[in-house]
Amino acid sequence: MLPSIARTLMSSSVRTGVRGIHRSAAVCSDSLFVHHDTSDNNADTPFAFTPENMKRAEAIMSIYPDGHKKAAVIPLLDLAQRQVGNWLPISAMHEVARLLHMPRMRVYEVATFYTMFMRNPVGKYHVQICTTTPCWLRGSDDIMATIKNKLGITTGQTTADGKFTLSEVECLGACVNAPMIQINDNYYEDLTVADTNEILDSLAAGKSPKPGPRSGRFAAEPAGGLTTLTGPPPGPDFKVRDDL
Ligand code: FES
Repeated sequence: MLPSIARTLMSSSVRTGVRGIHRSAAVCSDSLFVHHDTSDNNADTPFAFTPENMKRAEAIMSIYPDGHKKAAVIPLLDLAQRQVGNWLPISAMHEVARLLHMPRMRVYEVATFYTMFMRNPVGKYHVQICTTTPCWLRGSDDIMATIKNKLGITTGQTTADGKFTLSEVECLGACVNAPMIQINDNYYEDLTVADTNEILDSLAAGKSPKPGPRSGRFAAEPAGGLTTLTGPPPGPDFKVRDDL
């Protein structure tokens, strides 16, 4: 005899003519998770580490003991991406696989799992805006609209001059400084619409806007000043020695 839950599911799908079993929602992303050959990104695209980067790669690999060199896959992919300029062609993945004696598929698995690896060309400035809950509550929708208006692109697109690519990302770990964006290696935090415009204008003009919080905070300390630990810590051991 069928368990009652299965009987219920079968009878409801017969009655309604639709599947009675939950299916996953479609996964949305700015980028494809499959590789499509293009003229500038295929297995024949030339890639080799520069002599300087080859020394770096060897230094990285030397950290790991024999039999565990594969653990260097992430730093080597990062090195390759920085050499190419913000993105990682498939031929660079093949070179990393060759150096580490790994099956290419294992390298693809790493490069497609971590969103820090861009598998298609991006602009000189890769603007990643966090829209996860804390940033959203603090106004990431306004920051997103500002960036889109300013650059004339939407997520997943690059400006015609090749300067800016916009991506929407999940939490970048700076929630206490929400809303925030990451541009290349820098975080810009505690943003307002005016800050965002100023940062994009500065980059477009070839300047380097100062990264970090825009609210006057040094880092992630309380915005309204300290509320705890405001006095010297009580003993024992505090100021036991005058020279400390
Ligand atoms: Fe935006 Fe965490 S939610 S950095």
